[in-house]
Amino acid sequence: MGNGLFFMTEIIFATNNQHKLLEIRSMLENSFRVHGLSELGLDEDIPEDHETLEENAFQKAEFVYDKLGRSCFADDTGLEIEALGGAPGVYSARYSRMGSPVYPEMEVAAGNIRKVLEKMKGVQNRTARFRTVIALILGDNRYTFEGVVEGSIITEQRGADGFGYDPIFLPHGSDKTFAEMDLADKNLVSHRAMAVQKLVNFLQSDHHSIKKG
Ligand code: IMP
Repeated sequence: MGNGLFFMTEIIFATNNQHKLLEIRSMLENSFRVHGLSELGLDEDIPEDHETLEENAFQKAEFVYDKLGRSCFADDTGLEIEALGGAPGVYSARYSRMGSPVYPEMEVAAGNIRKVLEKMKGVQNRTARFRTVIALILGDNRYTFEGVVEGSIITEQRGADGFGYDPIFLPHGSDKTFAEMDLADKNLVSHRAMAVQKLVNFLQSDHHSIKKG
């Protein structure tokens, strides 16, 4: 970089979630070119059937690394609600489709929120956290990065931005839910942003060389 040439570092994010790609690209801006799976022609479902965020993140990253043989990372996130013993946790994506009650008639995110609000009716302890684990594969090396945001589950949905559980999650110290924040504000505090920042700091340190394009 010191010679005035600018190399864009390429890395694969093992996801087909365009929302997450946008979030991560908005944080990395000019320093990394992040490829999602669909632009690489990999559009099959990636298995994630383990019981922890860490195992799932590695399962996804390994799957993509086996297919493409290029440096990549994958993330897995869960909403962990204290009063529910850490649920929905690793099952956050499909909470409304499992156990009871189930809401098969509702769109999945709406059903997930409905289920949490239902289970939290009358519950005093509203403490919750979002936790993201990123698994990174660089050649023979494996690394993990974790981001956590503490907050609480409110009693009614607020806000229209974001996705998933954003309308019912109020980060500590904020009077806005994630769904009332714009992306830039969410990125200042979010679990994924924290984990990505750790990943970026690591990749930008001098010790690692990955494919330059
Ligand atoms: P994933 O592992 O990032 O796909 O996250 C699993 C599930 O957690 C998603 O389907 C969402 O329901 C929820 N989730 C993850 N990140 C967020 C977020 O930033 N806001 C709200 N919900 C999220």
